[in-house]
Amino acid sequence: MTERGRAAARQIQDEHRHLRQVLASAGAVFDARSADRDEVVRLIESLRRELIEHFESEETGGYFSEAIAAAPRLSERAARLLQEHRELADELDRFLSLAQEGTPDDAWWDRLAARFHQLAERLHAHELAETALLQDAYLDDLGATD
Ligand SMILES: [Fe+2]
Repeated sequence: MTERGRAAARQIQDEHRHLRQVLASAGAVFDARSADRDEVVRLIESLRRELIEHFESEETGGYFSEAIAAAPRLSERAARLLQEHRELADELDRFLSLAQEGTPDDAWWDRLAARFHQLAERLHAHELAETALLQDAYLDDLGATD
């Protein structure tokens, strides 16, 4: 893998670490249920912004392109992960709409907390898959597979 590929991989791992912290503190808000609706809406908006920036940095920063260059057989897996970025962004839009609708009663918090945990799990799985893709690309690059 090239130096650009290694730099992109390091940056992505840093961003993943940062996102885990962002998700953990957002999770605490949905557990505590003490924020008002405007605060929750702002929280989801900033979460959405951070994630979309993260997806863009993966898509344009050489992460996927370097992995595919090192291991062309991984291009389908990479394409699926890119497609998942679109789906996750759509889910974040729906999550935001959900927060903007209704009044913050118990049912509203139940809906949002359930949706948040679903989304956080999906993001976590997505990022694990990205890390796995990167590791496989490195292995191919070293000629250590098959
Ligand atoms: Fe990622």
